[in-house]
Amino acid sequence: MKKHIFAVAATAGLAALVSGIFVMSSSVAQPAGLVSRDSLRVPENYRMRYEVLGTWAIAADAGTPGAKEMHNVFVSPGAIAAYRKSGKWKDGTVLVKEVYGTSTGNMTTGTVSHADTLKGWFVMVKDSKNSHPGSKLWGDGWGWSWFDAGKPTQTTSTDYHTDCQGCHIPAKNTDWIYTQGYPVLKR
Ligand code: HEC
Repeated sequence: MKKHIFAVAATAGLAALVSGIFVMSSSVAQPAGLVSRDSLRVPENYRMRYEVLGTWAIAADAGTPGAKEMHNVFVSPGAIAAYRKSGKWKDGTVLVKEVYGTSTGNMTTGTVSHADTLKGWFVMVKDSKNSHPGSKLWGDGWGWSWFDAGKPTQTTSTDYHTDCQGCHIPAKNTDWIYTQGYPVLKR
């Protein structure tokens, strides 16, 4: 019996060691702050490193001029060229949607809204193999999460089915992404 327990402990120790090595080597391949396929966070410095996909203006309520929100969408480097070639998002592609409140006023071009206060970010990570079957933030080919402004590493999302997917059903045929809003993807 003792021998058996020892064997179990030794196996667990070995597993810990092996996973330790794995974590070490994966952190070498994946510098801190970058999104890996396993971790959901707002990628560090994405405004400088990422490609701009496009912008959505959300109209203000009736009677109020301008846009009440601006949504700016960024995507990880190389993803646009890959999509234009294959029509697909390659594994590991990260999409970041910034959500801004706006200011609206008269400018020399007319009534104009511009991005003002950042409310937070939506982040999606492509995972075509659905490699996180146990997680409620991963599925249907993506990782899904929301981050409040100021907390880029701590998602408040708990279940993508209820937090996200219902609203993305109109985009189901384009892999859940509203591609029609991004002229750069058109070939
Ligand atoms: C109220 C409906 C709604 C909810 C809830 C919602 N989305 Fe979206 N999402 C949209 C719409 C509509 C767009 C495109 C237009 C826009 O931004 O207003 C969009 C765009 C996006 C984009 C930019 C890429 C694209 O599809 O064009 C990302 C990334 C995104 N959503 C992620 C998420 C994630 C992750 C969640 C859950 C945590 C979520 N969304 C919840 C409706 C929603």
